[in-house]
Amino acid sequence: MLFSTKGVSLCAALVGATLGHAIALDVTDDDSIRSAASTIAFDMMTYYTGNQTGKEPGLLPAPYYWWEAGAMWGGMVEYWHYTGDTSYNDVVAQAILAQASPTNDFMMPEEAGQLGNDDQVFWGLTAMTAAERSFPLPTTANVTYMELAKGVFNDMAGPRWNTSTCNGGLQWQFNPNNAGFYYKSSIANGGFFQLAARLARYTGNSTYSDWAEKTYDWTARIGLLDANYYVYDGTDDTINCTGIDHDQWSYNAGTMLLGTAFLANISSNSSSPWATRAQGILTSAQHIFFSPYPNATNVAFEFMCEEALTCDNDQLSFKAYLSRWMVAATQMLPSLKTQVLDLITPSAQAAALSCSGMNASVCGTKWYVGGWDGTKGLGQQMAALDTIQGLLVNGTEPPLMVPGS
Ligand SMILES: *[C@@H]1O[C@H](CO)[C@@H](O)[C@H](O)[C@H]1NC(C)=O
Ligand SMILES: *[C@@H]1O[C@H](CO)[C@@H](O)[C@H](O)[C@H]1NC(C)=O
Ligand SMILES: *[C@@H]1O[C@H](CO)[C@@H](O)[C@H](O)[C@H]1NC(C)=O
Ligand SMILES: *[C@@H]1O[C@H](CO)[C@@H](O)[C@H](O)[C@H]1NC(C)=O
Ligand SMILES: *[C@@H]1O[C@H](CO)[C@@H](O)[C@H](O)[C@H]1NC(C)=O
Ligand SMILES: *[C@@H]1O[C@H](CO)[C@@H](O)[C@H](O)[C@H]1NC(C)=O
Ligand SMILES: *[C@@H]1O[C@H](CO)[C@@H](O)[C@H](O)[C@H]1NC(C)=O
Ligand SMILES: *[C@@H]1O[C@H](CO)[C@@H](O)[C@H](O)[C@H]1NC(C)=O
Ligand SMILES: *[C@@H]1O[C@H](CO)[C@@H](O)[C@H](O)[C@H]1NC(C)=O
Ligand SMILES: *[C@@H]1O[C@H](CO)[C@@H](O)[C@H](O)[C@H]1NC(C)=O
Repeated sequence: MLFSTKGVSLCAALVGATLGHAIALDVTDDDSIRSAASTIAFDMMTYYTGNQTGKEPGLLPAPYYWWEAGAMWGGMVEYWHYTGDTSYNDVVAQAILAQASPTNDFMMPEEAGQLGNDDQVFWGLTAMTAAERSFPLPTTANVTYMELAKGVFNDMAGPRWNTSTCNGGLQWQFNPNNAGFYYKSSIANGGFFQLAARLARYTGNSTYSDWAEKTYDWTARIGLLDANYYVYDGTDDTINCTGIDHDQWSYNAGTMLLGTAFLANISSNSSSPWATRAQGILTSAQHIFFSPYPNATNVAFEFMCEEALTCDNDQLSFKAYLSRWMVAATQMLPSLKTQVLDLITPSAQAAALSCSGMNASVCGTKWYVGGWDGTKGLGQQMAALDTIQGLLVNGTEPPLMVPGS
């Protein structure tokens, strides 16, 4: 994705506004969780205009980029899976299929100018979730969700895996005209890693687990993932990946976490390293992305930008993916469940308290302030939704497997 410089969608006049009526959330009551999720999802969907006459299905209006729409639909597939609410299914399926592209790999020609490996993989991961959750496919569809996920994988496992520098890795951007072509980013490589790991479990085909392992090994060898399981943002191929950008963003850790949890699930070998790796990434993410202050133990925050409110629109949504992937990881590796719920539960409570802006469905950015912080936007709704609906994971089916598919 091309990072926006537009900055946070901040209603300056409203900063410091007094607390309104927050969304009620009793984390021990599934009906209360469903109701809170439904309220937040409704508000989130008010940002979507693609199903209106004359608009293109699947897209969000400016300032939200194409990739974030793909990411949001993944959250909405999970919304249906976790809550059972089918209200948005037709809109969500239409949106995903509308962006599938003539080549069935989300390579939308009109997005060519901004489409990077990370953008494309977010749509691929959404298609993967739809396949794993058996999300209803419209009878008019000319492609399956699984075919779309494989389409994205096949693009990245081809010539885009670039061994001419750094002994491998995906470039952030695959279009040489885009800034970021010489950057090998964790979100591109981690997204591909996660997609390959999930395809491996779904299909049972070792081609995918081989690619997942190769990508993980490359990421660790180059230093994007360190020995203590911290995940850094990217590296520069013009210097053969000898230097690392040490910024830490929550979605980078999240994507590596879920990929390792999937590989742990399919390795029956007790000396397999994947469970250790998943546990390590979760614990490092806990150190960096939770508990910003002693008064906010285990509450999630985006530590690079949240306290100063310098997160851009992309970054404001990152907590959504960390939550989404932490929660999904508990289905793959039940040994993570207690630790994940110990983080997600206070985060969900704090997020719900932050949803007290305006009409009590507008969520803020800083969950640790104990109320609404005067900000609003799509990313804030997404982050609150993925975190709160994740509390329902315990009662839901794990991802489907269709060996030989
Ligand atoms: C809540 O208020 C915001 C800001 O006025 C508005 O954009 C949004 O549509 C409202 N949401 C609901 C659910 O009414
Ligand atoms: C678009 O989707 C929303 C749900 O998010 C729905 O309320 C609305 O009726 C739909 N609009 C059209 C024109 O189908
Ligand atoms: C599938 O149908 C959509 C319209 O819904 C179209 O845009 C797309 O090109 C078709 N894909 C193929 C591979 O025919
Ligand atoms: C591989 O990376 C090199 C160095 O950045 C670049 O010149 C080349 O175009 C890349 N190849 C592909 C297929 O992207
Ligand atoms: C670039 O780094 C790789 C290891 O990542 C190494 O194998 C290769 O020899 C290096 N190339 C150059 C020209 O230094
Ligand atoms: C496994 O997946 C690869 C990549 O899509 C494919 O080429 C191969 O035929 C598959 N193998 C089996 C046994 O299905
Ligand atoms: C078990 O996993 C270890 C570490 O990945 C590997 O070296 C070993 O070959 C595996 N054993 C079997 C039987 O697959
Ligand atoms: C793999 O996932 C299934 C489904 O959630 C679960 O029952 C099983 O315990 C997991 N396996 C491992 C090794 O954690
Ligand atoms: C927790 O402490 C931080 C830093 O002092 C402060 O900004 C925040 O408002 C506090 N939260 C609550 C709920 O009091
Ligand atoms: C999850 O469900 C199991 C039974 O399916 C139950 O024993 C356990 O207490 C539940 N955990 C939570 C955190 O709700």
